[in-house]
Amino acid sequence: MNQLIADISNSIEAATKFVKGFIISMGSVTNIFSAIEGNIQTVDDIADEYGYRNKKLLKIYLDVLCSYGILKRKDSKYFLVNGVDIRLEKRDFMLDKMKEDLISFFMSLINVFPHLLIDPNNPLATTDFERDANIWSVWLENEWFRSVRRVITEIGGIGKRDYVLDMGCGSISPLYYGEVVGENGKVTGLDKSKKMIDIARAKIEHRGYSWVEVEQCDIEKDVGLDEEYDVVVISMVLEYVHKLEKVLENAYNALKDDGKIIIFKMPDDPIINFTEALIPQFVKLRSTREVREALTKVIIKEYGDLLIVAHKC
Ligand SMILES: C[S@@+](CC[C@H](N)C(=O)[O-])C[C@H]1O[C@@H](n2cnc3c(N)ncnc32)[C@H](O)[C@@H]1O
Repeated sequence: MNQLIADISNSIEAATKFVKGFIISMGSVTNIFSAIEGNIQTVDDIADEYGYRNKKLLKIYLDVLCSYGILKRKDSKYFLVNGVDIRLEKRDFMLDKMKEDLISFFMSLINVFPHLLIDPNNPLATTDFERDANIWSVWLENEWFRSVRRVITEIGGIGKRDYVLDMGCGSISPLYYGEVVGENGKVTGLDKSKKMIDIARAKIEHRGYSWVEVEQCDIEKDVGLDEEYDVVVISMVLEYVHKLEKVLENAYNALKDDGKIIIFKMPDDPIINFTEALIPQFVKLRSTREVREALTKVIIKEYGDLLIVAHKC
């Protein structure tokens, strides 16, 4: 089992290494390198020069270039470390660890960067959970996301007849857990995005999975589910919520005695932070420590920086 988590962790690391050149090339595409070279060096000045309204994203991008050692920052000014001589050092691409569909997912996100820089609401930046739910459904169905669900299923010991609450379920995962628990089990999926829920519902009806239900619901508010579920899954969702404690309290209250909360989250890393910042609903990456400290009355087991299992006691 730990091998499965190691594979996921390695595939994330391999993807972040692979997209490095592509991320750096965005500095040319958006004229950011030319600006800095021409002594236009602060976030405000670069934004004004090119009409980039999304200053928050611009700053995150400049900080990624700092983490690559291409830029350095002094006070509010950014400088090219080696002038215009930007080179990719020889890298270990970790070819054997790569998952192509995770890389293409990252590339799809990074592609929207110039559009988002111009306008945080640019319709050409197709990464919004509500507006672009159709595209998300394609991504969420890919093999990498399925491998995450396999890990959650095995580590959570989810099996036939279980009752599963899937918080921030998106459009694909309720069907996956529906298959796992079978017709004598139950899956409830909650998601804030109406479009994600509409897509999920259509798929559930198409398959005839009467034991799977989905509902549009903000998990940062009272969800009103008490002691009904064996397992609560929160996968790739905590990055998009403001009220971490409220979400975890909802999860805890929904558990039967002896139930488990299974949390999968992306690692706290500057490149992941940049790719996540290309999703309008992104709030911040959550460290394992932060999640652990927000969980009470549970026994916690951690699997690296990616997975946390909290057992109700
Ligand atoms: C990256 S997707 C992950 C979907 C699913 N958990 C999976 O692993 O396939 C994140 C989902 O969280 C949902 N979400 C974000 N904030 C939410 C909130 N406050 N309440 C409910 N859903 C939320 C989004 O709408 C989106 O569908």
